[in-house]
Amino acid sequence: MTKTAARRATLTEMAVEVLTTADGRAKTALSHAHAAAWRAARAGEAPMIKVGTAEPPLRPSRPDRPELLDPREVPKRKPGSPAGRIALLHAVAHIELNAVDLHWDIIARFGHVPMPMGFYDDWVKAADEESKHFNLMCDCLEAMGSFYGDLPAHAGMWRAAEDTAEDLMGRLAVVPMVLEARGLDVTPGMIKIFRNARADQAVAALETIYAEEVAHVAYGSKWFHFLCGRENSDPKDVFHGLVRRYFHGALKPPFNEEKRAEAGLPPDFYWPLAEETPKQHGGTT
Ligand SMILES: [Fe+2]
Ligand SMILES: [Fe+2]
Repeated sequence: MTKTAARRATLTEMAVEVLTTADGRAKTALSHAHAAAWRAARAGEAPMIKVGTAEPPLRPSRPDRPELLDPREVPKRKPGSPAGRIALLHAVAHIELNAVDLHWDIIARFGHVPMPMGFYDDWVKAADEESKHFNLMCDCLEAMGSFYGDLPAHAGMWRAAEDTAEDLMGRLAVVPMVLEARGLDVTPGMIKIFRNARADQAVAALETIYAEEVAHVAYGSKWFHFLCGRENSDPKDVFHGLVRRYFHGALKPPFNEEKRAEAGLPPDFYWPLAEETPKQHGGTT
């Protein structure tokens, strides 16, 4: 009688499992479970998990709803009304679900690039936190009589991932250092809207998101600088080149210089890109 132990999934295979799970609550539950398994393995409390290599899908699986529309077709609602506040939280939930996939995707897609273990620790932690953020937004929506999938959402959120599918430095430049940094700029305004409406649950959820997103931008900056150091190239110049090449939106001031600095993003990284942005250009939220 031979006993063959089941082969333990690698981290990149675990990442693909999250990416190919469609339902938001199921995706985030799996994401939490895989993050906990990775943490336990890294702490020596469970058998080691190899990083390995895997083939992620070009696009992650998503639920049937929300309906995905071109950003120009998504109805705009004034945040002063309850319906407007629901729409705002729905948009954030959509961004958070996308962020869960983005963080597992960077692990799965670039498994062939040798990186220190800290790189995986950081993105697993970020994915774990994004999963919490999505669930917090869903809880708020449900408490307000809505749910994720109730409203249409932006199509095209995955574009940055597709554009940088072959370029780890491009991915770091565009996703954490541009898109997630933009989150630091806009979240305080959102918190104010919900505070004025005395929506305590949403205020607390957004404050958690705001506090934790600083680290995600910092991970981006840290590993971007690491890779520039490996190539002996100038980080600022490389960053400008990659953002011009891969980012199609606008870098829109005002910037949250305080939090960007905390995250390791100096002003000379983003200001030159803002100044050359054509005025008529629409932005991302
Ligand atoms: Fe988040
Ligand atoms: Fe994030």
